[in-house]
Amino acid sequence: MALWGGRFTQGPDQRFKDFNDSLKFDYRMAVEDLEGSKAWAQAICQAGVLSAEECSRLQAALDELLAEAQDNLAAIASAGDEDIHSYVERRLIEKVGDLGKKLHTGRSRNDQVALDLKLWCRKACEVILKSISDLERELIAVAKGHSEDIFPGYTHLQRAQPVTFGHWIMAYAQMFERDYQRLSNALELIKSSCPLGSAALAGTAYKIDRDALAKSLGFAAASPNSLDAVSDRDHVMELLSCASISMVHLSRLAEDLIIYNSGEARFVELSDTVTSGSSLMPQKKNPDALELIRGKCGRVVGALSGMLVTMKALPMAYDKDLQEDKERLFDAVDTWHDCLQMAALVFTDLRLNRHEALLAAKGGYSNATELADYLVARGVPFREAHGIVGRAVLFAIEKGKALEDLSVDDFQQFNPSIGGDVYEALELHHLINKRDVKGGTAPHQVQAEIKVLEQKLAARA
Ligand code: ARG
Repeated sequence: MALWGGRFTQGPDQRFKDFNDSLKFDYRMAVEDLEGSKAWAQAICQAGVLSAEECSRLQAALDELLAEAQDNLAAIASAGDEDIHSYVERRLIEKVGDLGKKLHTGRSRNDQVALDLKLWCRKACEVILKSISDLERELIAVAKGHSEDIFPGYTHLQRAQPVTFGHWIMAYAQMFERDYQRLSNALELIKSSCPLGSAALAGTAYKIDRDALAKSLGFAAASPNSLDAVSDRDHVMELLSCASISMVHLSRLAEDLIIYNSGEARFVELSDTVTSGSSLMPQKKNPDALELIRGKCGRVVGALSGMLVTMKALPMAYDKDLQEDKERLFDAVDTWHDCLQMAALVFTDLRLNRHEALLAAKGGYSNATELADYLVARGVPFREAHGIVGRAVLFAIEKGKALEDLSVDDFQQFNPSIGGDVYEALELHHLINKRDVKGGTAPHQVQAEIKVLEQKLAARA
């Protein structure tokens, strides 16, 4: 049963119906549509459209439909109705007869779908916020065990200065913490205004207390402009932006680990539980979980750019283009959620090869800055020290030696103030411990960073 048809003399072409119908994907908003319908029944009852008895019969039938939807949401997808709103209305009429035909009084599918999607976004935010926190907890658990383990730090993918493995892990924990904050902010904005009561575009003609209605649905207030409210999809664009930024973070994490796990680096070893084999090459153990995370970033960023282009130059107010908001949003949120969980799983059994990591950290003259600082402590201006050390590094490269393998005599060709105490300065633990500022790689600074984040996570548990 369609919600319209009176002014038509012909039914829809089947090919158009297949093209136009959205139930196959918007069935996912069934619970939200029913929650919104319950609140609307209450609101029009207060406006005198329904008697109290009619309202309670509608509520009871909507509750039955809610229970059915919660029990088997996916079954709704193939019911054949135009969209989730048509499905709910048909089922309601099947249950309570003509009374069901009163529910749509003063409401349009335009404000209805705007509400449903906002309610869906709210729940999606809650679910994702939890998976971000879970990932942060996992990262912290691993970082705690590695706050002293030396790891090569890179810039330009060239060995730069040693850091600790814990410090590297916490860099990602900070990115995910920002993702958490960003999404929390988006959620607050979603909750600030409720579109229901905007009707098709001009506002409902019934005396509804829209602010009370908004509050009953968990919003701070009713939307202030009906034209805007029915065509506003900022929350979809914002959620997709949050998802895209977070997926960019996840893809960087994935790429780092893929490099560190490679045969060329061997700094970490991924667990058998998140890798897969090759059908041809028996020796292979491929980092598929991480490669998929890296690859799926493109899919989510694509959803964001697609949505932005759909919204661009959209005429006021509701247009059917807006139906294109859902599939990509649902897919992007599912993908984001899966990737957050998969990233946490990768960390549950990630092994650090301390020896390989230390060897790499020692190589590449990554203690050269220390020698420059050593000279600075002996009165050499930094820029001059930089040049001196550069020449010493070149000398060491030619001799095939590390800086710490040069003799004091070798060093003194470059600057006479270099003495036997230079070797301690070049030692990696010494170097790590010297980065003892807030945010630095010194173990106790990383431990302090972990504590602060742990407290934030504990406060939200
Ligand atoms: N399926 C539609 C959507 O997702 C629902 C709103 C339809 N409104 C309308 N006037 N045709 O946007």
